[in-house]
Amino acid sequence: MQKFVITGGAPLHGEVRIAGAKNAVLKMMAAAILTDAPVTLRNVPRISDVAILREVMSDIGFDVRRSNGDALDLHVQEAPWPFVSLEAGAKMRASFILLGPMLARFGRVILPSPGGDRIGRRPVDFHVAAMERMGATIAYRNGYYFASAPSDGLRGAHIEFPTVTVMGTENAMLAATLARGTTVIDNAALEPEVDDLITMLTAMGARIARTAERRIEVEGVDRLGGADHRVLGDRLEAETFAIAAAITRGAVTLQGVNPEHLGAFLEVCDRMGVSYEADAGAATLRVIGTGGASLRAVDVRTDPYPGFATDFQAPLSVLLTQADGVSTIHETIFEDRLDHTRELVKMGARIELLDERRARITGPTALFGAEVGIADLRAGATLILAALTASGTSVISGIEHVDRGYEQIEAKLVALGARINRIEA
Ligand code: UD1
Repeated sequence: MQKFVITGGAPLHGEVRIAGAKNAVLKMMAAAILTDAPVTLRNVPRISDVAILREVMSDIGFDVRRSNGDALDLHVQEAPWPFVSLEAGAKMRASFILLGPMLARFGRVILPSPGGDRIGRRPVDFHVAAMERMGATIAYRNGYYFASAPSDGLRGAHIEFPTVTVMGTENAMLAATLARGTTVIDNAALEPEVDDLITMLTAMGARIARTAERRIEVEGVDRLGGADHRVLGDRLEAETFAIAAAITRGAVTLQGVNPEHLGAFLEVCDRMGVSYEADAGAATLRVIGTGGASLRAVDVRTDPYPGFATDFQAPLSVLLTQADGVSTIHETIFEDRLDHTRELVKMGARIELLDERRARITGPTALFGAEVGIADLRAGATLILAALTASGTSVISGIEHVDRGYEQIEAKLVALGARINRIEA
């Protein structure tokens, strides 16, 4: 088991290149299933979720390989073994994104009930209902979904999601590209990663467009071609480094991320008094720690994009421990996404849970090093941020959760002046 040992207090300075977005690349790998032509993805992050999906797709019989630098080449000709094991599914919830493309191209797949981060129930009923509307038959037995399409393929349908779902929207889009007729997806997700997937599918020959803010229409086609697509920058990684700069009172320039995708986060920075310079044209964001001036407490609630992202909520709480006054966080998307607060309290944070979705944070508090453990990906970033600002040394276990979504986080932090080591324990 590996751990991070972090000695806090060093201000971070310099430039950091933001990797391709985890929440986009996994869906783009799944999109490659829709064509028998080769697909190349670029700016693919070296994270374990990509490695897991690559393994899952290789087990089905697909050719997925890393090529030069940050590229991934995918070539999907046949699906001799359209099955994903319980073990693989438990490692990564996003494996469920294979449902739509497998049904659309090969007419069948057996997928396990998905795992991933332990944040709430995270059901997949919206995905299943969307495929059923397109004519699929899906039976759940012994932990597996047995899914098949009608012999003449999926058909277009009107799908209206009861609440906004990112992967549900993407699964429906992917399936609809090869379905007969038109599919209309209402209450569709607006995340930039969804739009980047639309761009890639369009390059493959799909007839797909956002026809209203929360409506996506897809006209099915008989066949899709290949694509060479560059994955957009990861706004969650960017936000993590932005907070690292602010919290250590350093100054860091993030490269390779569109600041327009960080709107709700930057709005919170404005309210708190965090200084930054955004340049959308150059795809850079420079965040400058406030030196002596104090940060202001804020109330934040999470919402689907363009609202404040649930994934940003935990890392933000570290910044809130340094703000002057009482802040609140209201998590509206997932239940049980406040687990990290317990670990932050061990480091001296003053956080009170009002209920399972709301936390009250009183600051500013001087954090101190402690032995803490990571339970999911974003909690991992949170504890690293807390350790960077704490006095003394912290030892953080469970870092495999961080490797799921952050490419070489310690190397990037060390390059900025942080004191962080990965040790075998
Ligand atoms: C994606 C992101 C994740 C992010 C989340 C919300 C990926 C790989 N992960 O997850 O990082 O935190 O969006 O922005 O892209 N729901 C159901 N039934 C379903 C599907 C979802 O009830 O079939 C509920 C969920 O429990 C949750 C809400 O809908 O309360 C939104 O979840 P959803 O947007 O689907 O999250 P993911 O796409 O899984």
